[in-house]
Amino acid sequence: MKKAEAGEAVNVSEEIVKLTNNVISQMMLSIRCSGTKGEAKEARNLVHEVTRIFGEFNVSDFILMCRSLDLQGFGKRIEDIHERYDGLLEKIITNREELRKKKPEAERTCEDDMKDFLDILLDILEDNNSDMKLTRDHVKALVLDFLTAATDSSATAIEWALAELINNPTVLKKAQEEIDEVVGEHRIVEESDWSKSSIHPNHHKGNTPSPPSDSHDP
Ligand code: HEM
Repeated sequence: MKKAEAGEAVNVSEEIVKLTNNVISQMMLSIRCSGTKGEAKEARNLVHEVTRIFGEFNVSDFILMCRSLDLQGFGKRIEDIHERYDGLLEKIITNREELRKKKPEAERTCEDDMKDFLDILLDILEDNNSDMKLTRDHVKALVLDFLTAATDSSATAIEWALAELINNPTVLKKAQEEIDEVVGEHRIVEESDWSKSSIHPNHHKGNTPSPPSDSHDP
């Protein structure tokens, strides 16, 4: 907003990735990325590198003779990404474990007691009687999988929607009018505004609105 007021250019794609990365790390880890600016950037870089390497064409996958050769240097890149991601996750998990030791469950106040995704995984990891056995590697893999799966996909979907709106001025105008009506001009959009939107599934039924579904159906 400051940049817009100063008439400066904004890299919208970068800002959207920051937003989706913040949303998912807030949901899973109760932190906006990983706290410090350097770590937040590293988290976004890693997500980007993982999604990029997922989609790259690997000659060795198709030509059997090349299987043992690392012609495109994938092996080195994979090892580097793995080491850096592992370091970041190890730091996040260790910090949380220390916090949990300082404030065991019995001493936590209502506010502290809000468990996030990481707490739930660590509860299972620490519970020897749990039906489901999780290792530290499972916890790391799940956090990595969700951070990566949620960040780029959601950012790309938002960017695509914005591009479609820009290319469809009538729809853009309708969306702007709707935001002005529901949100007004003096605050930013909040999650609860969704229930008042005309595209909310219950809008025309007059039912009590329910929050957006958090189930994921790829
Ligand atoms: C508009 C946003 C999204 C799109 C278009 C999308 C799309 C997809 C697709 C197509 C797959 C299947 C990939 C495959 O099997 O080849 C997938 C898998 C997955 N998605 Fe999403 N997704 C989105 C958002 C999210 C979010 C917000 C989360 C988590 C909160 C998430 C978590 C996952 C997970 C955990 C998997 C399974 C990955 C795995 O197989 O290891 N996705 N998604």
